[in-house]
Amino acid sequence: MKIVTKYGSKHIISTIILGFLFVLPKISFSQNLGTTHTLDIKTSEIIEKKVDSVLLLMTLKEKIGQLVLYNGSWDVTGPPSDVGNKEKYQKLKNGEVGAMLNATSVAGTKELQRTVIENSRLKIPLLFGYDVIHGFKTIFPIPLGESASWDLEAIKLSSSIAAKEATASGINWAFGPMVDISRDARWGRIMEGSGEDPFLGSKIAVARIKGFQGDDLSSNHTLAACAKHFAAYGFAEGGRDYNTVSIGAYELHNTVLPPFKAAVEAGVASMMSAFNEIDGIPATAHKELLRDVLKNDWNWNGFIVSDWASIAEMIFHGYVGDKVQAAERAIIAGNDMDMEGRAYEAGLEQLVKAGRVDEKLIDDAAKRILRIKFRLGLFEDPYRYCNEEREKKEIYTKEHLEASRDVARKSIVLLKNDTNVLPLKKDVKHIAVIGSLGADKDSPIGSWRGMATPNSAVSLLEGIKLAVDKTVKVSYAKGVALGMGDRSFVRELKVNRDDFTGIKEAVALAKSAEIVLLTLGEEAFQSGEGRSQVSIELTKPQQRLFDAVYAANKNIVVILMNGRPLAISDIAEKVPSILETWHLGSESGNAIADVLFGDYNPSGKLPVSFPRNVGQVPLYYNVKNTGRPSNPDGMVFWSHYTDEKNEALFPFGHGLSYTTFKYKDLQISAPSFSTGGNIIVSVTVENTGKLKGKEVVQLYLRDLIGSLTRPVKELKGFELIELTAGESKVVTFTINEEIIKYYTANKKWEAESGDFTVFVGGSSQTSLQTDFSFKK
Ligand code: BGC
Repeated sequence: MKIVTKYGSKHIISTIILGFLFVLPKISFSQNLGTTHTLDIKTSEIIEKKVDSVLLLMTLKEKIGQLVLYNGSWDVTGPPSDVGNKEKYQKLKNGEVGAMLNATSVAGTKELQRTVIENSRLKIPLLFGYDVIHGFKTIFPIPLGESASWDLEAIKLSSSIAAKEATASGINWAFGPMVDISRDARWGRIMEGSGEDPFLGSKIAVARIKGFQGDDLSSNHTLAACAKHFAAYGFAEGGRDYNTVSIGAYELHNTVLPPFKAAVEAGVASMMSAFNEIDGIPATAHKELLRDVLKNDWNWNGFIVSDWASIAEMIFHGYVGDKVQAAERAIIAGNDMDMEGRAYEAGLEQLVKAGRVDEKLIDDAAKRILRIKFRLGLFEDPYRYCNEEREKKEIYTKEHLEASRDVARKSIVLLKNDTNVLPLKKDVKHIAVIGSLGADKDSPIGSWRGMATPNSAVSLLEGIKLAVDKTVKVSYAKGVALGMGDRSFVRELKVNRDDFTGIKEAVALAKSAEIVLLTLGEEAFQSGEGRSQVSIELTKPQQRLFDAVYAANKNIVVILMNGRPLAISDIAEKVPSILETWHLGSESGNAIADVLFGDYNPSGKLPVSFPRNVGQVPLYYNVKNTGRPSNPDGMVFWSHYTDEKNEALFPFGHGLSYTTFKYKDLQISAPSFSTGGNIIVSVTVENTGKLKGKEVVQLYLRDLIGSLTRPVKELKGFELIELTAGESKVVTFTINEEIIKYYTANKKWEAESGDFTVFVGGSSQTSLQTDFSFKK
């Protein structure tokens, strides 16, 4: 059948072809989520044909419509846009909108989908996007906390549960995972990523994408993932959100991009470009990154969505004069969809007509979006995620809460346990829970909390009471207030900096208790988007509370709750036991109690370094040596601070257990290998304590001399093992050419011949080492 371009003929043909598409039998898309993102060839060919046939029917306006993403509520993360609901509805009816965000619930999404299907000419279904960051209604630990589990199965499970709940509520596209590497504890969004390391970050990115997308994107329980924010958003100057980024090619390629590359290899459906500029070019219109690297070099066929209004915000960056020019730059650079920027709808049609933008670019962007809609199965049934029964049954279930508790306890890091105060005995007579976070049912839900019900988490106080016998006295004193006034996702939290009321009462309680559980840290809305801080210390009232309680009773366990690394040198020096519990989600109090009483032996390891002082930031373990790494002759002229150590207070990879592990017999199968070959590194890990426990065995490499300088250590492997008391296990790692590749002076990802040191141990500070060499 010949397709003619006259509107009337196209319309008739479209009805026929779309009718054909809707009645096609369900095709199951087997998606390989391992190291390649290829759908099986036949399936992709069928999809490509369908995409092409739809595209042929579309007018320029309709194609541009697919590139438009509107907000569906006032739950905004940027300034509310000026287009009212009436106008939005009309655009939906005209087929001038491709996707909605923040429209949730079956009723809501069904109504919007119906508006498009029943009114628009081509009936192209909408995508419904939402920030599914660490759960939908059942909340899991904040991503930084969950990353401390180093447990990829657990991480995948939490994303798959989030996907199940979100899809039961009409959502088919998650704005996650956030895969931005960050070394800056001041940056509020550090809570949303997986920490400072590109290797760990890549593994976690893949686990989260697998959890969201499953093996079959067309299943009703999986949704399209979106790796964000491309790129270098975590490198904002001074840790100030949205700030300028200056980054060289080395850091960009070796530190920032690997998790995005891993996301591509895992078949991620979409990516979000970042708010920041990079060396003068806003990421939103960074052609070299978006089109050249991501789409061409990496051969990726998903679509790129801008961040909230970031296409239009290029006007404020001083990069373009108006929305039309903004649209021109963004589409040429490869940004496919405009999130609430109103620039594509304002500019693209006239830009094409004026010959400033090639229509082929619009076609390519529309095709990328249509492709995902087909893969989700939306053309077969646009209402497939709108099932009232599922919505009633599959959200916030007992099973999901149990999973949340399990992931939460796996995410807790035992930072210190000097005199083995922990685990606590359950027959203790009087436990005092002190600190406002101890009874807080809201902060554990964290920032970016999806559809969580406010104040719905199990507080620490509740968790402790549930864990012990009725004969145990559990008392509570608030101590000092942390946040004051309203808690809101969009408004700044007023933090208490000068009200010390409550310390006296807390001291009296501490004196009477056998053990004090002192909660310190941050409320939920102290971290997250737009929440950068110059200080990462405890507030003055909290510090004074600590001093007073510590003076009254030395039998203290400090329980940290926070969304970023905190500088707590003073506390770390004094108290014997510290637990890092982040913002752990719906089951927070139960999970912490599990660890406090030894029902779960802690196994978390830090995914990020904890500084001694904010002045050390950016702080990370995989540093370069510099030309002056030490001071052999005692002079001042070496790379250091005169008033603080260089090292972290708690380093990357650190985390204790109630048992102990010994590493021995580090062996290497051969002293060298060459292209095509490999060597096996093996180490014996022995549980030398009295309890069963888990350990994350970590492997680091140092490439001694490179065409570019190399870090002193880089994580290149890890394995989570469990050993009973007295048990030993030999853990092996394979080192091959792939593992030692990096972005070299040739501006290529390649391995270089040379000598390497391999380190194995339970943290990045391990010194158990041996050497090998590689020859090309
Ligand atoms: C954030 C994104 C988020 C988007 C939609 C933006 O402000 O940077 O991460 O997905 O809002 O809520």
